[in-house]
Amino acid sequence: MAGRAVRAVLIIAVILGPVVVFAVGAAAPGNLQPTLRSVAAARHLVLGTAVRLTAVDNDPSYDDVLATQYNALTPENEMKWATIEPSPHAFDFGPADALVDFAEANGMVVRGHNLVWQEQNPSWLTDGHWNRDQLISLLREHIMRVVGHYRGRVAQWDVVNEPLAEDGTLRPDIWSEGIGPDYIAMAFDWAHQADPRAELFLNEYGIEFGGPKTDAAYRLVAGLRAQGVPVEGIGLQMHDPVETSPELPALPVVMARLNSLGVDVAVTEMDVWLPTASAAADLGAQAAYYRTVLADCLAAARCSTFSTWGFTDRYSWVPGRFPGYTDALPWDSELRAKPAALAIRAELARGNPFNR
Ligand code: G3I
Repeated sequence: MAGRAVRAVLIIAVILGPVVVFAVGAAAPGNLQPTLRSVAAARHLVLGTAVRLTAVDNDPSYDDVLATQYNALTPENEMKWATIEPSPHAFDFGPADALVDFAEANGMVVRGHNLVWQEQNPSWLTDGHWNRDQLISLLREHIMRVVGHYRGRVAQWDVVNEPLAEDGTLRPDIWSEGIGPDYIAMAFDWAHQADPRAELFLNEYGIEFGGPKTDAAYRLVAGLRAQGVPVEGIGLQMHDPVETSPELPALPVVMARLNSLGVDVAVTEMDVWLPTASAAADLGAQAAYYRTVLADCLAAARCSTFSTWGFTDRYSWVPGRFPGYTDALPWDSELRAKPAALAIRAELARGNPFNR
């Protein structure tokens, strides 16, 4: 059901693709022809990026590359609890609505991010002294209101974000400590009630190459599926320093193992960080990294989404949070296509009779 909805939007996206060039103004320097989204549509791939409303509102060249090159977007922060329910029971959908409107105007799919997380929660929530029933009630209201508001307009939701600790135990946070492990099943059930056609994901970082956290994600989703909980996908975030490349051969194995649970996998937040000192020299290695992950997604039994955490080095969370790293995205800070963007396009075009 959810897959059909995504396909329908993609068909519209193919039709709208050429129109978009004219809808968003003058072409930015890095606007490739043929576009990434034209080759992605031919592969039935949701090709997305995280986006910031501040950039969408103020940077026309950003909008140009975004709408011409991508067929999907994920609000980077605008759907998080602190923004969307800043006061108890008072919802502010304005910033997220603006991004959903932008997506629809440009024939793009929306990935909703996220409904339950330990970060970016408002202080009224984190500082409150709630008993279990109160927390359940707050979580239920939040999910029903947010998913209900976007019913039919958000194709995929990251319902539960980053629930696992590195050792594979449940991360101790407001939800696991205040409600217990059942909060995960509850969240998926409510999201499904609010929009039965949205595809519901558990989204996690650091599970793409195997190990205790991957095993825990597998067991967690297996257990949820056995109980009939409507989890339909596992998001692999893939925030990876480029020197992680020796681990890449493990990725197809992990994808196949997670697919064996009967769920999709998706690359949801990929960026490939370059050490500041060697960034220019490492562009080729970065391109190869992106291309390998995309090839693995295209080859997997069920990987319909490949999304990066931003697309231009002009706006990226990486240097602010990890000062030794930079330039993690496929377009540079002048919005010129980097080798990574060309590698993504080449991989999408490979084996496609309609493209070189
Ligand atoms: O909105 C306030 C603004 O009012 C204030 O003036 C400013 C001062 O620093 O902060 C603003 O909030 C920032 C927010 O981004 C919006 O820009 C927060 O400080 C900042 O911590 C926050 O960072 C975001 C981070 O999630 C929060 O943990 C990043 O932009 C965002 O890229 C990042 O995204 C996460 C995914 O959601 C989950 N997976 C990992 C990924 C990277 O950390």
